[in-house]
Amino acid sequence: MKKIFFLWALGILAGMQPVFSQSASIAEPGVAVFYPAQFDSTATLPSLAIVKDLQKKDSLPGDWTVKPEYLQIEGRNAVRFDFEEGVDLYGTGEVIGDLRRNNTDVTLWNTDNYEYAKFDGKQLYQAHPWILGVRPDGTSFGILADNSWRQEIVLDDDAEIISEGPAFRVVVIEKENPQEVMKTLADLTGTMAMPPLWALGYQQSRYSYYPDTAVEELADEFRKRKIPADVIWMDIDYMDGFRVFTFDEEGFPNPEKLNDYLHSKDFKSVYMIDPGVKQDSTYFVYQQGDAGNHWVLDSLGNEYNGEVWPGQVAFPDYTRPETQKWWASLYIDFMNLGIDGVWNDMNEPAVFDGPGGTMPDNNIHRGGGELPEDIHLRYHNVYGLLMVRSSREGILDVNPEKRPFVLSRANYLGGQRYAATWTGDNSSTWDNLKMSIPMSLNLSLSGQSFNGPDIGGFTKTPTPEVFGHWIALGAYYPFSRNHTSNDTEAQEPWAFGEEIEDVSRTAINRRYRLLPYLYTLFHEASTTGMPIMRPTFFADLTNQELRDEQQSFLLGKNLLIIPQWAEDLKMPKGNWETVSFENEEADPYQATVKLREGAIVPVGPVIQSTEDYSTDRITLLVSPDKAGKASGTLYDDAGEGFGYKDGEFSIIEFTASKVSGKRIKVNVKQTEGNLKKDRQYRIALVKDGKVTYSPWSSKNTFTIKI
Ligand code: GLC
Repeated sequence: MKKIFFLWALGILAGMQPVFSQSASIAEPGVAVFYPAQFDSTATLPSLAIVKDLQKKDSLPGDWTVKPEYLQIEGRNAVRFDFEEGVDLYGTGEVIGDLRRNNTDVTLWNTDNYEYAKFDGKQLYQAHPWILGVRPDGTSFGILADNSWRQEIVLDDDAEIISEGPAFRVVVIEKENPQEVMKTLADLTGTMAMPPLWALGYQQSRYSYYPDTAVEELADEFRKRKIPADVIWMDIDYMDGFRVFTFDEEGFPNPEKLNDYLHSKDFKSVYMIDPGVKQDSTYFVYQQGDAGNHWVLDSLGNEYNGEVWPGQVAFPDYTRPETQKWWASLYIDFMNLGIDGVWNDMNEPAVFDGPGGTMPDNNIHRGGGELPEDIHLRYHNVYGLLMVRSSREGILDVNPEKRPFVLSRANYLGGQRYAATWTGDNSSTWDNLKMSIPMSLNLSLSGQSFNGPDIGGFTKTPTPEVFGHWIALGAYYPFSRNHTSNDTEAQEPWAFGEEIEDVSRTAINRRYRLLPYLYTLFHEASTTGMPIMRPTFFADLTNQELRDEQQSFLLGKNLLIIPQWAEDLKMPKGNWETVSFENEEADPYQATVKLREGAIVPVGPVIQSTEDYSTDRITLLVSPDKAGKASGTLYDDAGEGFGYKDGEFSIIEFTASKVSGKRIKVNVKQTEGNLKKDRQYRIALVKDGKVTYSPWSSKNTFTIKI
């Protein structure tokens, strides 16, 4: 009691005013919802993060430990959590620095942050008001501050979330382990929709491939050099004066023809669309936006303009249902040119001549429908989310039989429902290469499974060594795209000489070999919310030494990826066997891929693009545990379309056991789905660093000698 009084008195001295009386309830098993006193729901709700209805189902049990204390810190609404000793903290969205977030702070204010150099790198492109905590015994909790206003998360031994908006509700998840917390986060905020298979392939981008003939030559070059790839990206120079939904007449006179060409070479195309619409009375998008009254307004109620690539632009107000519909409709003619995917960039929104690189806090978003009118300070962090929601709907309307693919730079907690993401304008340095792992992991631990950085780095030109290591790692990011800026040297896999070209080919070949497993992980992420890329400590929650291991990471549950440059690595318990791949030349760059004891991982052959993907012949990497047992899963569907929602998929379970002490037997069983296929399997027994293959078999049970 004395301690509490002391802290209270100290709090008052430090400008913190506790606010008493609040309410709390249980909405789902292990999910508590806390409301501040005098809660004004219209100021923060409806939630754009949470899609689940959080009605009170029960009272908060007396022994619930993670509870917010509502207070004011320097006049701002805040919550504070006191944690027991030894809690490790993660998540908080897109951040640079260490995987373990203890003793860090982050400002949630989506920011165009070139080279992560501004604001000490503490404000990046996305905002995720979310903390994942893991206790020494492996039990875990999650804290979700359910509001989109500008806010700060300060993590020391305790946590403070300090908002510039009104007092907000907080959701706390309490579970047995962090995996269950991640699944519950997905249950509340939704999962990534199943992407088209091609989006899992290797992708090549630059700012910008120009003109269209350069794009065609690039496609040819990949095929000629036998470096697998699926997608070529069109950055802003394809447009006419950076006017979105237009094409440069000289460089891209016939986009349909270009897309046809790319398709004939088994490539897909992704084109950039930014939110800013050039203020030009002769331009159809601006005319339509004007006529429809679609723009964000300044504080006086006039059209707000700011500078982006095309010069002065107006910004669609995506809080308005009419504007969402209008924006979605712009994709009709665009996608009908044979475009496969859309890249939404600069949607923080970035404004070159605006305060802090964005629009003023007191700009007005008019809302309508579910969202009330409010100022930019409230809607800034969800501007990108609302944009990609609208883009996704538009794309789906045009091609209702296809799975949309949208990549977004800005996003918000829950935004995985609409778009994949990359980590913005990183740099071609060792440091950025290494940092990409904890960055992608914390994004994954914030619900954004489908993410990755620009492979090779965006600004500057990497040395051959840095590029070699980066592409060797890049093969395992959930989103695997090489991208670079407009003032850098070439960064294609062959741009650094023969050795690095071979390194790139080997790495990318591996990604394509691993596709059956990767696709299964994407399915898992889209149904349960379990991240694709996971921290190594997920493999062993009892070993606290692993909690800050950020050089290695897990791909799903069964593979551990260790970059060649990792030093003083901490390994999870158990026997992790090194996988070697067939017909592969060794080089000093490839990451070590380790298979978990007791796991079965399905892999396929090297193919040049996902057009050639087939599960007709699956190799099963098997590492039996001490009892000779192992298990694994394969998810299979058409790779495109929505037939899987009507049962056109298969989930195949593999189980291995020892027979007669000398052989391992693998059983194959389809446990879900109506998609029936005759497949051939073989066992690749991974043991003591060697791989032994069984003959191919079309039976449901086959064996290999151990
Ligand atoms: C932004 C993006 C970058 C893109 C460039 C030009 O800087 O982050 O990826 O290449 O804009 O569109």
